Amino acid sequence: MKQKSPRESMVEMTELVLPNDTNLLGNLLGGRLMHLVDVAGAMAAQRHSNRIVVTASIDSVEFKHPVKLGQIVTLKARVTWVGRTSMEVLVEVYSEDYMTGEQKFTNRAYLTFVAVDSNCRPTEVCGLLLETEEDRLEYEAAAIRRSERLKRREGTNC
Ligand SMILES: CC(C)(COP(=O)(O)OP(=O)(O)OC[C@H]1O[C@@H](n2cnc3c(N)ncnc32)[C@H](O)[C@@H]1OP(=O)(O)O)[C@@H](O)C(=O)NCCC(=O)NCCS
Repeated sequence: MKQKSPRESMVEMTELVLPNDTNLLGNLLGGRLMHLVDVAGAMAAQRHSNRIVVTASIDSVEFKHPVKLGQIVTLKARVTWVGRTSMEVLVEVYSEDYMTGEQKFTNRAYLTFVAVDSNCRPTEVCGLLLETEEDRLEYEAAAIRRSERLKRREGTNC
């Protein structure tokens, strides 16, 4: 099967934070941000696999800085690791105050997506072509994260 590089399926998604997206302090709601992270990640996984994908897991997420009402939020997603049917995607989030031009890195999340066929059964995806040193470092770290994830999964299986 053909291999694809992380660059080929990279996604950049930009949104304006509107009143309906915020809490009483005017900060972007955590749940709304997670929705955007999930959508950006899914698009990168779908581009990589050319398949429908489902979210299998989301690793822990830290909210480093609030994203405020009226700011621009940018999500950058790229595939970091590929198994037989699953893909790990890194999503990085940045906020931007368009009045001052100040940009802040606010979040990073790793998600695992599984490509599925029309019967929702996991289906094979193409391999990952590692082009850069950064691709290689991410891939090695992802393999460790995956084994931790699968241990947790075994622990929660009933
Ligand atoms: C994700 C799902 C398709 C996996 O199906 P399954 O029958 O458990 O399939 P398998 O055990 O064969 O696993 C398939 C792949 O998913 C990976 N996987 C499954 N659960 C995982 C988890 N919690 N975290 C990371 N990877 C996981 C497996 O390691 C395997 O990867 P590989 O093929 O690259 O080796 C199934 O659990 C599912 O449909 N879950 C619901 C998804 C959903 O509704 N998400 C929210 C809306 S999109």
